[in-house]
Amino acid sequence: MSKDTLSITDNRTGKTYEVPVQDGTIKAMDLRQIKVAADDFGLMTYDPGFMNTASCKSRITFIDGDKGILNYRGYPIDQLADQGNYLETAYLLLKGELPSKAQFDAWAEKVTTHTFVHENVKELMAGFRYDAHPMGMLASMTAALSTFYPTSKQVRDAQERERHVNRLIAKIPTLAAFAYRHSMGLPYVYPDNELSYAANFLQMMFKTSELKYKVNPALERALDVLFILHADHEQNCSTSAMRAIGSSEADPYCAAAGAIGALYGPLHGGANEAVLRMLQEIGSKDKVAGFVKEVKESGGDVRLMGFGHRVYKNYDPRAKIIKKMADHVFEVTGRNSLLDIALELERIALEDEYFVKRKLYPNVDFYSGLIYQAMKFPTEMFCVLFAIPRMSGWLAQWQEMIEDKEQKIARPRQIFLGSAQREYVPLHRRG
Ligand code: ACO
Repeated sequence: MSKDTLSITDNRTGKTYEVPVQDGTIKAMDLRQIKVAADDFGLMTYDPGFMNTASCKSRITFIDGDKGILNYRGYPIDQLADQGNYLETAYLLLKGELPSKAQFDAWAEKVTTHTFVHENVKELMAGFRYDAHPMGMLASMTAALSTFYPTSKQVRDAQERERHVNRLIAKIPTLAAFAYRHSMGLPYVYPDNELSYAANFLQMMFKTSELKYKVNPALERALDVLFILHADHEQNCSTSAMRAIGSSEADPYCAAAGAIGALYGPLHGGANEAVLRMLQEIGSKDKVAGFVKEVKESGGDVRLMGFGHRVYKNYDPRAKIIKKMADHVFEVTGRNSLLDIALELERIALEDEYFVKRKLYPNVDFYSGLIYQAMKFPTEMFCVLFAIPRMSGWLAQWQEMIEDKEQKIARPRQIFLGSAQREYVPLHRRG
């Protein structure tokens, strides 16, 4: 008769243990009882990069990496991208259900009325050098918001949490646009509360002397869809950072600043910027085969940016949607000349044994940069464009973590391989 348990025989002692299996998982703490002696610490698991460790139970985002499935709260990403909008997606992630019309209107109103930032934020922003990277500015300014809202420390108070969740989602586009305007030496543009979330961001970025900035509806929609696609992706590097920092009960602004830092890296959200730089370096379609050869021969040192994923071992469903959407954007902006290089790169890589064997497919970052560039966003802003919508996912995950009774402060173990205890030798007696 089958049982939901796992029997483990410790060949060091000959003892057998039975541990429960629940949801396809054993509890790491159940291994602690496995000891060779009474004073032994007990068995641990070793898992750098959390390749096979579930750090939480979650009900937010589901990914089947082999089948290329991504669902938010059960809704397939392609349906949300086709028919939904970003703000209702954020609501869905945070609350678990799609809003009714009345709930949506109230939510949109709440976000809209929180878009302004304190005037002192502008002075803080002015302290950055002219060439400061906007991700560094965004992380710093997000942390700085914690000083404007000291009650955000009350993370166990659901009402307080909601207030700061709304603020963070509402203000992140303003901070992002201000960072860009600072780097360009342009005056800041204040939020226009009559516009949609995406349109307001576009006007804060690009408005110059016109009284009312006219947002192209196709570009507004494209940006909104990109926001939907980037809203959450379960326990990735930045979300794990958000949860880990939040687990010490730090306020959500500081936790989100840490998540922004994690996203910034080129192996994570910084990849879209790296893809663009890679395509520019390749320079022309005829040089693609040579570049792919270089990647293969580098032994992992040179990577094809925008390819590969820890979870997807199939085409990233978001990349599929973005690739299709690129055509709509290029109809308005004109075709991005780097597209041909990207298409050739994808064609060659998908046929090449190196990439096929390792199941390396284009990820969300492979095509998004081409769209951003066509929309006139500078390359340094690409990762910022990822951080804006991911804020809703980070906050949904943070809330879930705070409410989860099983969660504890994140504190992994280590395997210590350093020196055994030794005697201190005073400086004058060291050779
Ligand atoms: N180009 C070339 N080879 C690659 C690539 C790539 N992009 N990605 C992985 N590989 C190779 C590795 O060299 C390794 O080869 P080996 O088995 O011969 O040693 C094998 O594939 C497995 O790679 P790992 O690094 O072990 O895979 P991991 O799951 O740790 O990494 C990651 C996933 C970081 C996304 C990786 O694929 C990568 O660096 N991709 C490029 C950066 C990128 O596009 N990041 C964005 C990811 S999506 C996101 O964060 C939003």
